Amino acid sequence: MDTSTTTQGFEDLVGDPQVFFSEYFNKKPLLRRGALEGRTRSLVSVRQLDDIVAMEAVSPAYLRVAKDGRGVPGKAYTRTVADRGAALTEAVVPEQVYELFRSGGTITWNALNHFLPSARHLVDVFARTFACPSEVVAFLTPAGKDGYAPHHDPVDVYVIQIEGTKDWRIWEPPADRRADKASHRPEDLGPPAIETTLRAGDVLYLPYGTPHAAAAKAEVSLHLSVTVEPRRWRDLVGETVQQLLQDPEFDGFPHLAGATAPDGAAALGALLSRLAGRLAEADPAAEVDRLLAAGRQRAGAGRPREFERLASADVLAPGTRLRRSAVPLEIGPSDGAKSGLLVNGHRLAVPDAVADALRELESGGAVPAAHFFPGVPEARSVHVAQGLTRLGVLETADRTRS
Ligand SMILES: [Fe+2]
Repeated sequence: MDTSTTTQGFEDLVGDPQVFFSEYFNKKPLLRRGALEGRTRSLVSVRQLDDIVAMEAVSPAYLRVAKDGRGVPGKAYTRTVADRGAALTEAVVPEQVYELFRSGGTITWNALNHFLPSARHLVDVFARTFACPSEVVAFLTPAGKDGYAPHHDPVDVYVIQIEGTKDWRIWEPPADRRADKASHRPEDLGPPAIETTLRAGDVLYLPYGTPHAAAAKAEVSLHLSVTVEPRRWRDLVGETVQQLLQDPEFDGFPHLAGATAPDGAAALGALLSRLAGRLAEADPAAEVDRLLAAGRQRAGAGRPREFERLASADVLAPGTRLRRSAVPLEIGPSDGAKSGLLVNGHRLAVPDAVADALRELESGGAVPAAHFFPGVPEARSVHVAQGLTRLGVLETADRTRS
């Protein structure tokens, strides 16, 4: 699928981000009617889910089935793939999944972002917004059936109704929300705070711990849930401390038991003082930037299309404009004719004019491949630019930066 058709930003889902974060985020549910009207098919379709089930090596970890409000054990729809008597792996059996759906089961595809480019794009939107991982889960419920019994999840949930309709009951998040998964008996919850029918294009935000239940009424319902685990201060501060603890002065292997215990206490006291000193010296603004960058990188989104990039380097046109990529590059001193480059663990020597051209591009800007290497024939300039593009030093200037 071409992900350029799925250019949703976070504001397309929740509206004005300032309003969302001040009034709804972490506080109360938000329902946005028709937020993605006419655009949901580019995210996922029933046909794509058919194709995923038909793949013969789908791991059961990616598929769950719930019937009558409860999970169906995986062995009801999986088989062991074996080779000459040796078990290789568990795989989903499509016919059994279809049979469970026909008899009223809700089918759930976990981590759709692991194999569907449009879902990965959606995860990328959340990674940029929250600097942490998220997961796209698809729910397909047959007409006239409940999905899951009333429960709450330990994650923030952004529901996007893709096809059909689904009736939702949502209860107020309790005052002391629990960051775990638990079921509720309807009689304990009382009347729901919101009862509504989601239609294709509607977006619903549920803060973690919000009890909810959903049922498909008139037709098959397909919705996506993007789940995001909220990060607490303890997670972020813990990461900062972990970073400081990478220093070799914390490398030792103490023996704390027995007679050496008093020495152990003294040594620990000294290290804690050092850590406290490091924490006091930390620059909070720089640390926020580092935490954001690390969180976005870990999220697994925004992976480049490396094969496509390499293939495009092979057919680089003389007029293609090139710029420096985000890949770190070290340019060494000149030996009078050539300068050393260090990139991605590769060392190479390039003519000084090429090193100068790269230095010039460090501050931004782009140059056609034919004129990248000044003073040589165009074909040679393109050839050198191709080599540096393959190494990742240069990239075509029309790509969006991730
Ligand atoms: Fe849920």
